[in-house]
Amino acid sequence: MTNVLIVYATDYQNTLKMAQSIAAGVQSVPDCAAILKAAETATYDDLIAADAVILGSPVHMGSADWRIKKFIDSCCSGAWMKDAMIGKVGAVFATGSGFGNAGGGCELTMLGLLNNLAELGMIIIPLPKSTPGYTTGGLQWGPYGRSANPKMDPVGVTEDMLGVARHHGIHIARAAKALKGVKIFG
Ligand SMILES: Cc1cc2nc3c(=O)[nH]c(=O)nc-3n(C[C@H](O)[C@H](O)[C@H](O)COP(=O)(O)O)c2cc1C
Repeated sequence: MTNVLIVYATDYQNTLKMAQSIAAGVQSVPDCAAILKAAETATYDDLIAADAVILGSPVHMGSADWRIKKFIDSCCSGAWMKDAMIGKVGAVFATGSGFGNAGGGCELTMLGLLNNLAELGMIIIPLPKSTPGYTTGGLQWGPYGRSANPKMDPVGVTEDMLGVARHHGIHIARAAKALKGVKIFG
């Protein structure tokens, strides 16, 4: 079995919905399992047991939620010390309300999390523009769920955005399955 850990933070459930759609995509790939964990409950053991890790955060003041950062600092740093995640697959996603249209800080949020995955030596899966729904639900860094409409009404993430998240899960599961047990780095 290929295990894909999805660690998210949420207050208003939009990031959770994105995480659940990614999990559905993962589960649709044969022999792949999704483990969905809120950042407050995710542990070091969850991390090192995973073949792939996906970090998802709401945009808070232009960057990632502190709970995700706490998971990175408290759990990922230990894995960094032991080279435990090198060569495993990593990816990210984010939600924001869309201040500034594209979302003030959604790109920085995802890039910041990707930086953490790169620091761990992980193989990063982007979101290719060929992904169905890409033009409304993503950036090359990963799916982006905008939870407010252009008038800033809090309508929640749309089915289109959730569909992009689902495809991201499929891509990551396929990559993790293909790379499981393959030694890439010396
Ligand atoms: C403290 C705080 C700061 C926020 N800062 C931003 C921001 O900088 N840019 C943005 O687009 N949305 C911002 N938002 C809105 C959230 O990112 C957005 O509502 C998101 O969908 C919430 O995800 P959740 O439903 O999983 O909690 C902020 C929300 C909170 C609570």
